[in-house]
Amino acid sequence: MDQIVIFDTTLRDGEQSPGCSMNLKEKIEVARCLERMKVDIIEAGFAISSPGDFESVKTVAETVKDCTVASLARATQKDIDTAWEAVKEAVSPRIHLFLATSPLHMEYKLKKTPEQVLEIAAAMTAHAKQYCSDIEFSAEDATRSDWDFLVKVVDAVIRAGATTVNIPDTVGYTTPTEMRDLIAYLREKVPDSDKAIFSVHCHNDLGLATANSLAGVLGGARQIECTINGLGERAGNTALEEVIMAMHTRPVLYPFTTRIDTTQISRASRTVYNIIGQTAPLNKPIVGRNAFAHESGIHQHGVLANKQTYEIMTPEALGIQTNNIVLGKHSGKHAVEDRLRELGYSLSQEELLACFAEFKDLCDKKKNITDADLEAIADHCIRSDDVADENGYKLNWFSMHTSNFTTATCTINLEKDGEKFEDVCLGDGPIDAAFGAIDNIVKPAPHTFDIYNIHSVSQGKDTLGDVTVKLISEGRTYTGKGLSTDVMEASIVAYIMAVNKLCAATRKKEA
Ligand code: KIV
Ligand code: ZN
Repeated sequence: MDQIVIFDTTLRDGEQSPGCSMNLKEKIEVARCLERMKVDIIEAGFAISSPGDFESVKTVAETVKDCTVASLARATQKDIDTAWEAVKEAVSPRIHLFLATSPLHMEYKLKKTPEQVLEIAAAMTAHAKQYCSDIEFSAEDATRSDWDFLVKVVDAVIRAGATTVNIPDTVGYTTPTEMRDLIAYLREKVPDSDKAIFSVHCHNDLGLATANSLAGVLGGARQIECTINGLGERAGNTALEEVIMAMHTRPVLYPFTTRIDTTQISRASRTVYNIIGQTAPLNKPIVGRNAFAHESGIHQHGVLANKQTYEIMTPEALGIQTNNIVLGKHSGKHAVEDRLRELGYSLSQEELLACFAEFKDLCDKKKNITDADLEAIADHCIRSDDVADENGYKLNWFSMHTSNFTTATCTINLEKDGEKFEDVCLGDGPIDAAFGAIDNIVKPAPHTFDIYNIHSVSQGKDTLGDVTVKLISEGRTYTGKGLSTDVMEASIVAYIMAVNKLCAATRKKEA
C-alpha cells in the first residue's frame, strides 16, 4: 500500500487565522501533540513574519525529534535565508517556499509576467536547495492557474531541486473531480514528475476541503496538508481528523497507509480547542460531542442491538474512552496516575502532584470524578505553569455580592511576590465587578475582550466550568484559562492569567 505523508500546518495556516494565535508554550504543546500523533511534517510557522514567529519555529525545530519541521517562506532570498536559520537545527528540516501562479495573483499581487514567475520559482528553489535537501514548492492559487503554465512551473522547480510540489486550492474553489484531474494531469505532463511527491493543500470555503484532498490522492498526490480541527484562513483547511478517518474507515476506496496514531486524535483536538479558547461545534465530524451520541429511539435501538448499525467508526479508534471509570475521594494517587496514563497522559512527577492536588480539591465539591473531569484537570495542570512563569498575581480570595435588585460588587485579594493587594469594585454584573477590581490592582495596559467563554466539562449541575478569556492589546492576543466548579472563581483565575501575560509583555516591551 502507498504511504500518504501527513503535513500538519495547524501552527502556520491554522495559527495565522483570526482568534487562533498561540504563544510559544502553546505552540510547543501543540507540536508535542502532533509528534505523539506521528504526523510526518510539522509546519511550525512563517519564520520571517515576526521575531515571535522566528523564535517559535526555531524552538519547535529544536524540540521535535520524530517529525520533519518546516518553515514557510515567500520566494525571496531573505525569506528563504530566515526560514533556514529557523529550521536548521531540526533533526529533519524542510524549507517550504511559495509563489503564486494564477493570472489574477501574478498580475495584481505580484505584478509579474508568467515568464518572470517561472524564472523566480526555479531560481529561489535552487537558492533554498543550497541549504537543505528537503524542499517544498507551493504554486499558490494553483487551482485557478492555467494548467499548462503549472506544468512548466512544476517542471522547473523539480529540476531546481524541489522534492515536494504542493498544489494548493488557496481559495477553496476547486471540486473533487477537478482536483483529481489536475493532479493526474500534472503527473502525466511533467517529465520528471516521479522525482517529487505531489501534495494537496485545500481550503474549505465551499465545504469541500476533505473531499478535494482525498480526490487529489486518488489523482496521484501522496502528501496531504491539513490542520487539527480544520483551523485555517477563512473557512479553514482540510481537517486532519477527517481525511485520516475517511481513509481509515474506507480502506478499499483509499488503499493507503499513514503513520498517524488515530488514538491521539481526540486529545489533539481538545488541546487545540482549549488553547484557542473554543469548543468543537456539537455536530463537528469526528471530534464534536455528538459525533457518537444517539438520541433518536430508532438509532438507540439499532446501536443497542449492534453498534455498527449507526456507527461507522469507534470512539476508541480516536482515543475516546468509553469505559468511564469513576474516581472519587477514596481514590489514591496511583489510581489517578493509572487512569491518566490510560487516557494518554504521561506527566512529570510535578504535573502529577499538581493534578492529584486539584483532583482532591474537586472531590470535596463533586462526588464522582469522570474521565472528562480528569482530562480537564490534566490539561489545566500542564498549562498552569504559564501563571507562575509570568511571575504575576495569584488569587488569594474573592467575595462577591450580586442580586437582581442591587449593583454587583466584588472584593478581590491578590498576592504577588509575597505582598497582598485588595480592592473592591462595582459592576454591571459580578464578572464586570470582579474584573474591574482586578484591573484596579494590576493596572494592565488597555485591552479589549476577544473571547470570554464558559464551557461545562461534563453534564450535571456540579460540572467543572472551564473558562477561557482572550484579551487583545495592540494586535496581540493574551489567553487565560480557569477551571473550577465555581464559574466565578474560574473566570477570575482565567482573567488574572490573561492580564499577567499582558503585563509580562508590557514589561518586556519597556525593558
Ligand atoms: O493556501 C495556500 O496557498 C497556502 C500556501 C502558502 C501553501 O497556505
Ligand atoms: Zn493555505
